[in-house]
Amino acid sequence: MIVILDFGSQYSELIARRIRETQVYSEVLSYRTTAKQLRQLNPKGIIFSGGPSSVYDENAPQCDPEIWEMGIPIMGVCYGMQVMVQQLGGEVSRASRGEYGKASLYIDDPTDLLTNVEDGTTMWMSHGDSVTQMPAGFELLAHTENTPCAAIASHDKKLYGVQFHPEVVHSLGGFALIRNFVYHICDCEPIWTTEAFVEESIREIRARVGSKRVLLALSGGVDSSTLAFLLHKAIGDQLTCMFIDQGFMRKLEPERLVKLFKEEFHIPVEYVNARDRFINSLTGVTDPEEKRRIIGHQFIRVFEEESRRLGPFDYLAQGTLYPDVIESADTNVDLQTGERVAVKIKSHHNVGGLPKDLRFKLVEPLRKLFKDEVRKVGRNIGLPEEIVNRHPFPGPGLAIRILGEVTAEKLNILRDADLIVRQEINQNGLYHDCWQAFAVLLPVKSVGVMGDQRTYAYPIVLRIVTSEDGMTADWARVPYDVLEVISNRIVNEVKGVNRVVYDITSKPPGTIEWE
Ligand code: XMP
Repeated sequence: MIVILDFGSQYSELIARRIRETQVYSEVLSYRTTAKQLRQLNPKGIIFSGGPSSVYDENAPQCDPEIWEMGIPIMGVCYGMQVMVQQLGGEVSRASRGEYGKASLYIDDPTDLLTNVEDGTTMWMSHGDSVTQMPAGFELLAHTENTPCAAIASHDKKLYGVQFHPEVVHSLGGFALIRNFVYHICDCEPIWTTEAFVEESIREIRARVGSKRVLLALSGGVDSSTLAFLLHKAIGDQLTCMFIDQGFMRKLEPERLVKLFKEEFHIPVEYVNARDRFINSLTGVTDPEEKRRIIGHQFIRVFEEESRRLGPFDYLAQGTLYPDVIESADTNVDLQTGERVAVKIKSHHNVGGLPKDLRFKLVEPLRKLFKDEVRKVGRNIGLPEEIVNRHPFPGPGLAIRILGEVTAEKLNILRDADLIVRQEINQNGLYHDCWQAFAVLLPVKSVGVMGDQRTYAYPIVLRIVTSEDGMTADWARVPYDVLEVISNRIVNEVKGVNRVVYDITSKPPGTIEWE
């Protein structure tokens, strides 16, 4: 394992992912992690991430000085390198000008860390401070035009520092450098594979759960579906999958999901039809946050009743992923033990409000994985592509895509329009090019003309976006011909709609969903 000590960089997760791409397991921990804690983890290498501070700032983050004496290879990246230099007696200065963006890396020592990294390759820089004097025992590995010490090493102690960011894609020689560090300097073996993860997870689940019963709230997304597959493989009938149909799913989706699980995967699903209850609870409600709150509250109530009816259960399976764990790594040390009390059901609603007798122990087999790794696991254990690559779909579903009050009539209109959007995006080969593609129903009416008749009906908004992670997004440049077909089909085939508009707002300032 390689440990990444996080000094507050936006790239710490990315470093972890790059390491894992070499099939070596990596974890991100706080820079406050002590040498003693690290010893228990027994990593084969440590990477110090970058960070927004200057080593001269008051309270600038520093590492436990004992870490330098551990004899484990360490590579400092950007701020991580500057901390290394400062703590070991070298000098860091504010450069007369910072260096941001691409820089050519000129190699002074083509061995060791820079083996097979091309002289003059592009590396990506983002720093104000620079190393002006290396600590004793360090040698220069590479420089750039503006940065005399761009890569340094103390070969004896296996300490390395790079001013650039080898983890970002713009750093063309970055992956070769990371591989050198992982394989040659830290002597890691490429054993973090999907197959190994599946095998080990199954063993761990069996050991943890024993003969006890586990409840899983299935949503149909890739996380909960992968979880269901993995658990079913591990403990068979001890697993109960519960699917709560709140009535806000897309057309034919609940039926398809239950059929897939029961008939094709042979995993039994408890289908809970709570449609009336959810829609009735939204009568007269128009405020978006109020809608979300009511839906969340209803979900907890149904979940509570149904788990009592089907239970008792000892464990609740949750699709917690690694990014959720990293966010709290700084404050919640108990995360390592796995003995946490349920606080939320991922991608659905917070069930922290459950009564005491319904507090489950958690089983979270995906908590070591990034989203793309979950997809690989899903594929490996037999999930079909339609689930593995499914676009994100919000927990409150179509209820937050009908602006204003949600009614059965509007749900039907939106379902039909949404189906057309999905069909056309699929048929035109655009599904994988976009993050999400859906329809939104506005609670206003406008005048149109069809045949010789005046119409007065709802508009549908098309929301089709590209995004890396849902945090920022851009509207997709869908070809006009495709937009034309979608618009024609919706207006002609969906009763109650006479106009289609395309949302050309990015996020920010817009959000992806309309509520
Ligand atoms: P926004 O609208 O905030 O959405 O730009 C960002 C991403 O999150 C999804 N989303 C949700 N997912 N429960 C979820 O599981 C929710 O309540 C929820 N609200 C928004 C949205 O679809 C987009 O991918």
